[in-house]
Amino acid sequence: MLSFLHRSLLLGSMVAACCAAPLFAQQPEALYHEPYRPQVHFSPEKNWTNDPNGLVFFDGEYHLFFQYNPSGDTWGHMSWGHAVSSDLVHWKQLPLALPEHDGEMIFTGSIVIDEHNTSGFCQNGQPCMVAVYTSHRGTGEHDQRETQSLAYSLDRGRTWSFYDGNPVLDREMTDFRDPSVTWNDEAKQWLMAVSLPNEHKVVFYQSADLKHWTEVSTFGPSGAIGGQWECPDLIHLPATAQHDSLWVLKVGINPGALQGGSGEQYFLGSFDGRTFTQQPGPHSTGWSDYGKDSYCAISYNHLPANAAPVLLGWMDNWQYADKLPTSPWRGQMTLPRELSLQHDSTGDTLAQQPILTGLRSGRGRHRKLQLSGTRMQLSAGNLSTPTEMLATFTGATDGLYGLRFYSDNDHWVEVGFDEQKYHLYVDRTHSSIEIHKDFPARTEAPLEPARSRDLHLVLDRSSLEVFAQNGTLAMTNLLFPASPYTRVQLFRSSGHATLRAETSTWTLNSLWK
Ligand code: FRU
Repeated sequence: MLSFLHRSLLLGSMVAACCAAPLFAQQPEALYHEPYRPQVHFSPEKNWTNDPNGLVFFDGEYHLFFQYNPSGDTWGHMSWGHAVSSDLVHWKQLPLALPEHDGEMIFTGSIVIDEHNTSGFCQNGQPCMVAVYTSHRGTGEHDQRETQSLAYSLDRGRTWSFYDGNPVLDREMTDFRDPSVTWNDEAKQWLMAVSLPNEHKVVFYQSADLKHWTEVSTFGPSGAIGGQWECPDLIHLPATAQHDSLWVLKVGINPGALQGGSGEQYFLGSFDGRTFTQQPGPHSTGWSDYGKDSYCAISYNHLPANAAPVLLGWMDNWQYADKLPTSPWRGQMTLPRELSLQHDSTGDTLAQQPILTGLRSGRGRHRKLQLSGTRMQLSAGNLSTPTEMLATFTGATDGLYGLRFYSDNDHWVEVGFDEQKYHLYVDRTHSSIEIHKDFPARTEAPLEPARSRDLHLVLDRSSLEVFAQNGTLAMTNLLFPASPYTRVQLFRSSGHATLRAETSTWTLNSLWK
């Protein structure tokens, strides 16, 4: 990532309201129909995006802020873009929220709702939105400095003011970023998890007013430490009938992930209000996504009481993010995912279910299939993207089997189970036009042998998200086929017993309609 930082800085105004020109006020429909334009994932109307920022639910709206370059389709001039949704599915882009200004780029961070005006920013007894973000100044080892700063909005995120006492947290470090802030109601304190990328540590701070912070603990190094740690997020998983509540600490790592380039690892454990302690057990650490293209996911703040946590990430990888063949935008988000704790005889595991509410068109097609040969066409050229599919397989005890989506006879992407290696895999080596040497990939995740062989997948115009074994495995990969996917095939490599599959398929409506 650091190699991207050598960019000239755009000098802008202190107040975002200045930049609320009607740049994005209209969303001309034609713009959302370009080749590769995702139809069920958020992407900005134009220009570059990376990490989601400031995910927060407030006053009936889900906000999605995002790292954004307002003046180009490669990384630079980092600012916060803004979109809103009433259902986490249909998004409307709003004017730029926090612009780069006075030599300060606005890096990743979070937004809290200050219900009790602890910050003193709110007015008329109304709660207000406070953004806690990383101020990134300078470039290179000698003059780069990262500190944590505040901005606030009194009108539901439409216009913003930067706090004139910024920065609020300074360790005099080159790399110190991506604050994730939540309210701890028991302690009546704000909690911040923030990354020391090169030390592979997450530092926890507390504050009563968002302006004065005290360090309370650190976590790490642990797990994968090959690259920089970025975008930490501490998430509370509610208790289930079988288990007390647990905490997930999720950290992005770049480069150095299992999948190559950028990846997301997680730790399961307990949190006493100050310190995170990883629990023992086989699933207490792992990858929250085993694909190449899920990075810097964070969870929603201030969700309605009893709502499950929701995680949303950048569907990309720093290895080739600036090479993606899309225009006039570059970068898109994963689907939002509801998080839960799955508990069975093999232990506690983090599970994810994609949110697509209301996008299914029609009643879907439901089938019970038996495959005694090696291949069966499930659609004769009439598959259309985006598509959602559920499939459960039984009967196979060896070899590979699964689904293969064709864009033409020589190009396909395959998702399957490998019963020799006990892997779930996605093979996109024959899927896409030429992009970058690190793009072709076969991504793999270890299966839990005792769990079912089920798939829940969403194929959009330039991605395939796969959830397996009841959402305990997630695998997200971008795809850039030369022509759209039109056929799907059930396949198996070998085997004697009959493979049985139950499938349900829906065409999905576009979120832009
Ligand atoms: C992760 C990241 C963050 C940083 C942001 C800058 O993708 O490197 O650590 O805040 O991107 O755009």
